Amino acid sequence: PAPAAPRTHPLGLDFEPVAPNDLDAVVVPTGYEQDVLIRWGDPILPGAPEFDFANQTAAAQSAQFGFNNDYCALVRVPGTRDRWLMVNNHEYTSESFMFLGWDADDPTREQFEIGLAAHGLSVVALDQDRRGRLAVRLDRHYNRRITMNTPFDVRGPAAGSDLLTTSADPDGVVVLGTMNNCSGGLTPWGTILSGEENVNQYFGNADAVTDPVARARLARYGFPAGTTERKWERFERRFDLARDANEANRFGWIVEIDPLEPGSNPVKHTALGRFKHEGANVIVARDGRVVAYMGDDERFEYLYKFVSDGKFKKGDGRFAREHNKKLLDTGTLYVARFTGDSPPEEIDGSGTLPADGEFDGSGEWIPLARNDRSFVDGMTAEEVYVFAREAGDAVGATKMDRPEDVEPSLKSGRMYAALTNNTQRGQAGREGATEVNPRVANKHGHVLELEERRGDNTGTRFSWRLMLVCGDPNSPDTYFAGYDKSQVSPISCPDNLAFDSAGNLWISTDGNALGHNDGLFAVPVAGRERGHVKQFLTVPAGAETCGPIIDDDHVLVSVQHPGEVDGASADNPLSHWPDGGDSQPRPSVVAVYRTR
Ligand code: FEO
Ligand code: CA
Ligand code: CA
Ligand code: CA
Repeated sequence: PAPAAPRTHPLGLDFEPVAPNDLDAVVVPTGYEQDVLIRWGDPILPGAPEFDFANQTAAAQSAQFGFNNDYCALVRVPGTRDRWLMVNNHEYTSESFMFLGWDADDPTREQFEIGLAAHGLSVVALDQDRRGRLAVRLDRHYNRRITMNTPFDVRGPAAGSDLLTTSADPDGVVVLGTMNNCSGGLTPWGTILSGEENVNQYFGNADAVTDPVARARLARYGFPAGTTERKWERFERRFDLARDANEANRFGWIVEIDPLEPGSNPVKHTALGRFKHEGANVIVARDGRVVAYMGDDERFEYLYKFVSDGKFKKGDGRFAREHNKKLLDTGTLYVARFTGDSPPEEIDGSGTLPADGEFDGSGEWIPLARNDRSFVDGMTAEEVYVFAREAGDAVGATKMDRPEDVEPSLKSGRMYAALTNNTQRGQAGREGATEVNPRVANKHGHVLELEERRGDNTGTRFSWRLMLVCGDPNSPDTYFAGYDKSQVSPISCPDNLAFDSAGNLWISTDGNALGHNDGLFAVPVAGRERGHVKQFLTVPAGAETCGPIIDDDHVLVSVQHPGEVDGASADNPLSHWPDGGDSQPRPSVVAVYRTR
């Protein structure tokens, strides 16, 4: 039975939906106002220079907000009511939008080093005033930039593995930097998890690796045979697989950052497996163990979960925090296999619902490894962790339509997954429709709801159903949990998921295939309004909406890559958001407040 209807979110789901548009603006509903909280290049470390687009340096960027912020989290400063630490991922750099006269064939060393510094994460102190408005503070204690030069401790079962050693780190225990940090999660113990996603694009010359097994593994993870578009391999040997092939294995992990301990090394968690991590979201199971749900964002890749051996300790004292920060070191890694309950001939790839009226069924979590023990024939535990995709292949995991954010509801324990799109499904030589991925050439994506058996997040059996099959509600291949489709907002390419305090699901989109700007949507998951999707905001053309935080008195969104439309570049900017005039577009965090 569906849980009882939630009370209305304090921020209100009674807003008038924002209509689809193509504006060079963030558009919010009537009764709300917006404020740009921070932009690429804004100083965050005390003494950092003001942003100067035409005169960038790596030294300046290392003390300023990085490029293309994606995930966003808020952690309250202990002992305060009105001070926060905001943690942002800087997923990747777009050099043609960062530099005038960018020459992709001949990047300069300074541009390369600015690129290193513009990656990673930022920790930024925020003050909240009496009206609830947030403002950035240059804080000498907490503010921090993590870049491609920051040391990370490698932990978990693959730390020290021969698969992770390099000339610079013969013990395989410390990695410089993090890259392509996409989404993330705020843990129950107040740290930030962040996913290293498309790391293959940074390492060149896989064809120089002669060992056939290592070569096949590089191919399985998509590392390019020759040079990369970024050409970082020209500047530092760690990006050249011909010289340090194992460096590739040191990226593609979930990393953990403790914003309250600015002097501590962040951690790479090998127990959570290596793939194109979108993010990881943790829930405390009934027995106290913690469960992290995760997706591998590539076409035909898998959903995973990790169940810790140890149990969560309540409290934010030092003892409990130090205990909890080790929970992701030991446990079991699982991959998901889905079974539909309708006859396969009723799943024709058109998106038409089967006779039982739902895309739904059952499934199981298949164990891959627990610490030093592998459950996969022919693979050691270390191999399972470092090459988790191969382990998933070996056990027959279900190939999904690009798993982006995977997020458990802390209200119901149900897990939701954004399957953003997969235009290759059913195309020549590729797998066709299945009940859990029911559309061929899936342009608009879908949202999956997964319910663990008996509500036990540590268990191995579950039921599932598609809550949303996205797209134009007037099209017969869309489904909004059975809600009246004449009342819903069109939605395409769900990417990040978040819950408000009332348990409503909020969805941000990336790549709207309906031809208008991306945005943020709210939808109740229970009660009579289940499936009533309403658009809360839109972002400028070319941008994706990400990192949403839905708190009772504000909504924060990341506006990533504004103005990145065909034909645009720094030499021909087609967006001037957020600064207006003839300015260059800048990725930013926007705060939205209710005014009525
Ligand atoms: Fe970086 Fe899967 O989005
Ligand atoms: Ca069915
Ligand atoms: Ca994403
Ligand atoms: Ca995406």
